[in-house]
Amino acid sequence: MILAPLTRGCNLPYRRLCADFGCKVAFGEMIYARNLLKGDAVEHARLRRAPNEGGLFGVQIATNDVEEAVASLKLIKAAGQIDFVDLNCGCPINEATRRGLGSAMLRNPNRLAELVLGIVEADVGIPLTVKVRLGADNKNNVMRVSKEMRDAGAAALTIHGRTAQQRYSNAANWDEIAKVVAESRDSDMLIVGNGDILTHEDARAKIESTGVDSVMVGRGALEKPWIFQEFETGVRWNPSARDRVAVYRRLAQYNKDHFRDDARGRKMASYFFPWHFEFLCRYHSSKNDIQSRWIDDGDMPPLDTLLACKNTFAHRRIADILWDSVGDEEAVAKLTEFAEGGEFSSLLSAVIGDGGGGGGGGEELSNIPGNDKKVRKRRSMKPKRTEEEIEQIRAERKLKRERLGMTDHEHVNGGRRGGN
Ligand SMILES: Cc1cc2nc3c(=O)[nH]c(=O)nc-3n(C[C@H](O)[C@H](O)[C@H](O)COP(=O)(O)O)c2cc1C
Repeated sequence: MILAPLTRGCNLPYRRLCADFGCKVAFGEMIYARNLLKGDAVEHARLRRAPNEGGLFGVQIATNDVEEAVASLKLIKAAGQIDFVDLNCGCPINEATRRGLGSAMLRNPNRLAELVLGIVEADVGIPLTVKVRLGADNKNNVMRVSKEMRDAGAAALTIHGRTAQQRYSNAANWDEIAKVVAESRDSDMLIVGNGDILTHEDARAKIESTGVDSVMVGRGALEKPWIFQEFETGVRWNPSARDRVAVYRRLAQYNKDHFRDDARGRKMASYFFPWHFEFLCRYHSSKNDIQSRWIDDGDMPPLDTLLACKNTFAHRRIADILWDSVGDEEAVAKLTEFAEGGEFSSLLSAVIGDGGGGGGGGEELSNIPGNDKKVRKRRSMKPKRTEEEIEQIRAERKLKRERLGMTDHEHVNGGRRGGN
């Protein structure tokens, strides 16, 4: 089971947490090859592996130029911490595709093949993998693309079972992934299936039914980093709220270790750590679907209610409390106190009043329709952009500001200095 490339999601502290739970193959956040070559500090920071990442660690690059790609691979190899490089051919957002990057590269399989062949033939000494969707726009050409990638010498191909146009709508199409597996039987290129793996049972079932060499998890790992342990042991872990506080406090500690435990480090981490609760809050022991936005148990204890809250203000408070707590007991006590207090209950009423979403991001990543009216109403009010798109747009804007010599917004500045 592989941790997916996730802009903002799979930064070093988060990967360290996943590695604790047995993640053995992980991708870092996507890097723009051009910026890496220009010496961008944030992109360079993305070449660092976590201290406990004993398995394979790969970085994903976005480029459509052979020279740029080869120069990046050389630089990445020289950094000495990376086991493989992945080429992003799946990003669907306009900011990438209008520059011919991401999923736009699927429109011209010949050109993509030339790019991959050019990189492979440069023989930099680091394996090249490719991540695609079923096709660009709404055209499914994954069979053609996979053949081209095989012939060009890609070491592995990850297929997210949706077209670029589908974004996260519809269920991922694993039948198409299975067809590619069948077609690639006699080749050395590994096939990794991706899309909607939310439990270790899903993962096993997909491996068995399609014959993929591995599966990649994105949102499932952001919701419960212990999915890797569940996959290894085959046993579902149903952590109590206290257990989860301990896990989340560990993530706070890893953020401190990475960004430093001082005011500046805290500011840098504040771009990532509270954001992770947009996914962590979706965990629910009896629910398999990450798509559930609101847990309607009625009787949940305060701490559970707080940890399930989708409100970004609550996420910031949770992150602050975890950062400041000396031990798990203190964290549980302080979080419970906040959960039982008036501030949180008024927040909660506001959240329920607005339909339960309360500002937490990521609902756009849903593809399973809700069956309650509140969820449906909220959904129609949400912007169309996915979390991934928003992240990519932020990255693009940051780049533009840099090119114009403008100062970054404070929290982005934190991301820049500390990288990921
Ligand atoms: C927050 C977020 C950021 C993402 N960033 C990237 C990225 O930089 N590169 C990429 O190839 N895919 C990216 N993706 C897509 C995932 O890698 C994955 O293909 C997709 O989420 C489907 O897998 P899942 O159903 O397990 O989440 C991102 C997804 C999310 C939710």
